[in-house]
Amino acid sequence: MFFHRLRELRRLNLDRSIKDRSSAQGPRIIIEDREFINFSSNDYLGLAGHPEITRAASDAMQRFGFGGGASRLLAGGSELHTILERKIASLKSTDSALVFNSGYAANTGIIPAIAGEGDVIFSDELNHASIVDGCRLSKAKTVLYDHRDMDHLKKLLTEPFAESRQRVVIVTDAVFSMDGDIAPLRTMYDLCLNLNSERRHKDPALLYVDDAHGTGVLGKGKGTLAYFGISPEPWIIQMGTLSKALGSFGAFVAGSREVIEWLTNTARSFIFSTAIPACAVAAASKAIDLMKTRPELIQRLWRNRIRTADMLRGKGYDIGKSETPIIPLMVNSVEDALKLSRHLYEKGIYAPAIRPPTVKTPRVRITVTAAHSEEDIAMLSKALSSCQV
Ligand SMILES: Cc1ncc(COP(=O)(O)O)c(C=O)c1O
Repeated sequence: MFFHRLRELRRLNLDRSIKDRSSAQGPRIIIEDREFINFSSNDYLGLAGHPEITRAASDAMQRFGFGGGASRLLAGGSELHTILERKIASLKSTDSALVFNSGYAANTGIIPAIAGEGDVIFSDELNHASIVDGCRLSKAKTVLYDHRDMDHLKKLLTEPFAESRQRVVIVTDAVFSMDGDIAPLRTMYDLCLNLNSERRHKDPALLYVDDAHGTGVLGKGKGTLAYFGISPEPWIIQMGTLSKALGSFGAFVAGSREVIEWLTNTARSFIFSTAIPACAVAAASKAIDLMKTRPELIQRLWRNRIRTADMLRGKGYDIGKSETPIIPLMVNSVEDALKLSRHLYEKGIYAPAIRPPTVKTPRVRITVTAAHSEEDIAMLSKALSSCQV
């Protein structure tokens, strides 16, 4: 049925395969009975396998069992869900927050709930696939602007098709997941502010920020808005994940009471899906506590990021516009990306190649965490020294 298409994927070196771990997530993992230094997780603070996180999850499991059993609007939620939402709202300085089952579910549920037919969404061309799919599901007119190009966005916002719409939504990754660069949120904020002063008789333009890779990483863990010193506004909607720096699973949206109430009533991926289990919620809740009480986690993450980026640049690698613990090693072809990744694998370093259609330019995506040791980074350096790519 799909034989020919699969054969074509293989011919182009674009076929994917799964390599499962037989150990916990962390800086060292076991795959195929071999230990690897793991430069391929989004576990930025090293919390996914942290004993205090697993203990919190296991205590919650003892008390609440494992499965959620129903949608949150039925009997799926626990009191831990509400406690977590309060903590997230406090972290993000918003009125309210709502937990979703994953970042993918959040984006594909929230975007169609805030924009629909007749509205317009402006989306960065490199936004995450879940945003792309959310925009498609919304049926709003979606206009892509060049990556982080605020002049382009500004120009598009003044086009007649934009001015005539009732609802305008600007949507962006805060930290771009494959490039590790940061969206110019200060300029985006100013653009929205100006737009909203002009659009007095229409709905305010919304700024929707996906802070999956900024939460727990930037702004002392509060995220990318805090990093830029931007205070929340009723027209800013912040989404983030519990699955990356917070070491758990699931996602959230934080915003005004009105926005959260609207999403509780209309986001289909929230309404029509079983709630995430209390144990995942407890793990995320504990991660927020740890992030606050152990500032050294974020400090260590950034120390490792700087050390690794300096080392890679020193070896002549093109790391693109990376400003965060996501550091791509840009290469010229899919074959080079595979060659580099295979070489690292042979040397005991796990860092898979990222190829089209995930990205336009092939690369090996290195992610650094607080849990990496100096020795781990030195091993990466050594492995790269003997590489021809
Ligand atoms: C920017 C961005 N948004 C959303 C997601 C989806 O999050 P999740 O893995 O929780 O579905 C990801 C992650 O993979 C991401 O990088």
